[in-house]
Formats: sequence, C-alpha cells, structure tokens
Amino acid sequence: MKTQDSASAPTSEPLLDLVALRADTPGCESVIHFNNAGCGLMARPVLRATVEHLELEAAIGGYEASAARAAEVADFHAAIAELINARPGTIAFAGSATHAYAKALSAIDFRPGDVVLTTRNDFISNQIAFLSLRRRHGVEVVHAPDLPDGGGVDVAAMAALMRAHRPRLVAATHVPTNSGLVQPVAEIGRHCRELDLLYLVDACQSVGQLPVDVEEIGCDLLTATCRKFLRGPRGSGFLYVSERVLRSGAEPLFIDMHGARWTAPGEYRPVDTAARFEEWEFPYATVLGCAAAVRYALRVGIAPVSRRTPALAARLRAGLADLPGVRVLDRGPAPAALVTFAVTGWQPQPFKRALDDRGVNSALSFREFAQFDFGDKDVEWCLRLSPHYYNTEDEVDTVAAAVAELADATR
Ligand SMILES: Cc1ncc(COP(=O)(O)O)c(C=O)c1O
Repeated sequence: MKTQDSASAPTSEPLLDLVALRADTPGCESVIHFNNAGCGLMARPVLRATVEHLELEAAIGGYEASAARAAEVADFHAAIAELINARPGTIAFAGSATHAYAKALSAIDFRPGDVVLTTRNDFISNQIAFLSLRRRHGVEVVHAPDLPDGGGVDVAAMAALMRAHRPRLVAATHVPTNSGLVQPVAEIGRHCRELDLLYLVDACQSVGQLPVDVEEIGCDLLTATCRKFLRGPRGSGFLYVSERVLRSGAEPLFIDMHGARWTAPGEYRPVDTAARFEEWEFPYATVLGCAAAVRYALRVGIAPVSRRTPALAARLRAGLADLPGVRVLDRGPAPAALVTFAVTGWQPQPFKRALDDRGVNSALSFREFAQFDFGDKDVEWCLRLSPHYYNTEDEVDTVAAAVAELADATR
C-alpha cells in the first residue's frame, strides 16, 4: 500500500495512499478518531474476517468453524511473529495485554526479597501487579530514576540498580499510556542481556505505530494488545516468550489442557511452544480479526507508519504549544503519537464531552494512571489525543482549532 496519491499534503515520505486507507476504514466517515491509543478504528478486512467467522459459526457450528479455518487461525501466530521478528512458536494469544502480562508474571517463581526493577512510567496495571506481588510474596519493587530533563528513564542509573540488586525481573513499558514518551527499551535490554536478567517489555502502545523487534530489544517476554495501533478487534492481545525462556521450562501458574498434556494420573507435561501460555478456549472470530489486522499493518508497512504517525502527533503538539491555558505534557526527544496536555479552566469530563460534541474522539488520563509522572508534572488530569496514520493533516488542524476555541472559552 505504498503509493503516490494523498488526500492532503503528506507529513512524511514515503507516501501512504490515504484515500484508499480511509475508504477502507468505515469510522473515518463519521468521526475524527484521535483515540487510537485507546482503540484504533478497524479496517474493513478486519471487520470482514471477524464477522464472517461469526456467521460461519452460526451456519455450521463453532467447533466445526474453527476446524475449517485452522490455517487462518494459525496465521495469527505467524503474523505477530513476522511483525516483531520472532518465531510463530514463541507467540501466545491473550485476551488483553494485561492478561498476557499476568500470565507472564505467573511463570516467575517469586521469593520473598526478590527484586522487580521497573520504571516510573510503567503502566498502571503493571505497577499494581508488582505491588500485589509485594503484598503476597514479599517482593521488593524498585523504580529506576528518570533523567533530570524528564526524557525517560536514566538507563545508566537503571543498569547500576541491576548490578546492585540482581533483580528477579526487569520490566519496562515501551510507550507509556500517560504520555508520548518512548522509553529506550533496547538500551535497557542490552544491560539485561549482559547481566543475564529476565526482561519483560510492555509494548502495548508501540506495536502498530513503531517498529518492535524482540531481537533488537533483547527481551525475554513482551506483551501487547491488538486493539490499539494494530487496529484489531477488542478483547485481544499477545505474549511473546523467548526460546530461552521456553527452554528453561517456565510455565504459567495455571496451565490447561491446551498448554499441557496430562501424561499420567499424577503427571503433566507443558507443550514446547508458547501455546503453554494460552487457554483451550479461543474467541476465534477475534483471533481471525487480529490476524487480518496484523497482515494489514504489514501490508501498509510499519516503516512508513512509524514516520507518519508520530509526525501527525508532532504537528498537533505544535498546534497546541502556544495556546493560552494549554500545557503540552509530553517529553523526550522523539515522542510517539500520544499527545497529552493539561488545560486550565475546565473539568475533565465536560472538556472531553465538548470535544465529543465536535465529533472528535479523545481520552482522559488521571493522576491515578500515572502516579509518578503526573506527580512530577503536577497535574491531576490531562486529555490524550492519539492520531494514527489514516488521520489527515486537516483533521489535526481541525482538532487543534477545537482545543484553541475551548481553551479560549474559559478565559
Ligand atoms: C502501556 C499500556 N500497557 C498495557 C495496557 C493494558 O492493555 P489491555 O487493556 O489490553 O490490558 C495499556 C492500555 O491502555 C497500555 O497503554
């Protein structure tokens, strides 16, 4: 889908065929969707794959339908593997990124005094999971400091903490939910490999908008959703488990008849692949929709997407930067397509509703989502706008103008 024609002046090269991409995206007709960090708009092939399978289930029976589509179901693993430079056998389907994360954590035999080393910008649910491990297993949770300019985690300081604590787990979120920050996950990974430390990466907001290569990152485990920048259906995600971890025999705490063979009344044996992290029951229509979404993303091309999407966000930030009463909160040298800002004179819900009324989809973030980051920035809430490659420059300018008008209305 690399091309020439473009609906409006392009932000970056090579050009994407925006007319075709938008025609493929029914939601583009009804809304300015700047909530891709919440859930991307599905493209027609994704919708078709999902709905057709539900129709097939209704027509011939659910078990029979999954048998008839076995090759396409297997393509879920192959497509994700291609996307992140892994082998299909290292990919497990999960119902959400959080589900994948919990499964991964459950495979680690935490003991009292074990250290989890993470960052101040890791996802809220990951932070709660670490605190829950602290409560139940006496695990110590250590947060690496940020660089003084707020541009993300201080990798040198994090590496020093790795050497000092020998953590049982190092965990980092590639792109946090609460800002456009991009964390240096590959740099962290190099230290983990050097020190042979288990490394878990949350790539929930990066897959589909930035290149994610598990070899380059050097992670053992990686989690993501399919519904955000990959534009898959809701209720989907995946877990990558490295060959090294699979070979070590790691398995989730609860493993079912899909993940293991019951070899004798008192024995079971986990399967060799990452299927040991899956469950027997699959939402097949969703899995097929995800496979279609990943194939679609690969056809569009992660390279052009990863240039255009953050560039649209940069254009939006530039449009908001000098507005009176608006404070753009994103930091870091090359932010991703999550644009966050605080606005004075408004309460969160009415502000979001005012944008809804103008046909603009957005999301709110609250202090609770990002205790460290929002504490540092001294904000209680912010609005998050997250364009994707199928959005246009005109939409960006329309949204910036809407924010300007609303910010001005309270002055
Ligand atoms: C960085 C990050 N990690 C994890 C998640 C959780 O994803 P899910 O809702 O699929 O569990 C989110 C969701 O917003 C996220 O932004």
